[in-house]
Amino acid sequence: MRQQRKDIGSIKNALFYPSSEPIKPLSNKLMAHETVDPVLADLQRRRTPTVNWASLSLGERIRYIEVEGFLLMPRMLDEDQIAQLKRQTSTFSTTAVSYSEKQRGKRAIQWTGGAVTELIAHPPMIDFLKRLFGDSVIMMDYAYARSEPGHPGISLHADGQPWGSKIFGAAHSCPRLIRCLYYLDDLTPEISPFRVVPRSHLSFHNDGNPYLRYERHPGELMITAQAGDAVLINQNVFHGNYPNIGNSFREMLAIAYRPSWAGPADPVEAWPEEMVARCSADVQDVLKDRSQRIWAHDAPDKPDNMPIDAPGIDPERWELK
Ligand SMILES: [Fe+2]
Repeated sequence: MRQQRKDIGSIKNALFYPSSEPIKPLSNKLMAHETVDPVLADLQRRRTPTVNWASLSLGERIRYIEVEGFLLMPRMLDEDQIAQLKRQTSTFSTTAVSYSEKQRGKRAIQWTGGAVTELIAHPPMIDFLKRLFGDSVIMMDYAYARSEPGHPGISLHADGQPWGSKIFGAAHSCPRLIRCLYYLDDLTPEISPFRVVPRSHLSFHNDGNPYLRYERHPGELMITAQAGDAVLINQNVFHGNYPNIGNSFREMLAIAYRPSWAGPADPVEAWPEEMVARCSADVQDVLKDRSQRIWAHDAPDKPDNMPIDAPGIDPERWELK
């Protein structure tokens, strides 16, 4: 890593601060529209980051997820994988969220089998997470979500909640957790694109209390994507999605992972051994004890044989190629 040191001035500003621009008007009619139609006003308000996601180096990806709180990884699934996954998701019986029949989902889909279960160990994602975490990867939960036309949008919220919650349980009380959102349909401005308030997870302010929710925020960005792309979020970044004002639904698979040390505040239910045994070796490798923590409560001030280097906390990790 040290050989890859660059002058600090040579690091692109765009990585420190995602430049953003107003979304292009969707039509001339929209450009000329000056009335206060709430749907059009919402579209005109949105800003998108100008980032070439495919060109990011490993260090830049790590920087995005650590500093900005999110990261888009393009083309993670090919057409065949998407088709296989959709064949399975089309059979799911779903339940609606409390506020809309048009936002539906299914939890605990890890035992579905086939492509859905294999996605847990999707090599390009696990390879990246192993570089990010520096060791093995532990899955905490896995869910399916579908936004249908008429879905009003998901309010800005944080997934990570340090003392648990009714919605997320203890599984998201881990001190570090990444949620990987695989999109099976295009995310257009009309069809529930992702939204995020960059850097909100870093705030010490009471406004950053992860138990709060917001209708919207002037600093939020809209993230559009293609089917097969994945958006990764730091669990504490405020995020949500926009309404579905299009004509089709949008499917997404969300898998939460964390480093081996960062177990939840309270134990969570263990994976049933007989179910884990049915999975492939690669999937089993990720379905480890999800209550596991690496904790040194009684560690002395000066333990023996302390390391004198650790690449995972090196400020130069954002310069990895
Ligand atoms: Fe969320």
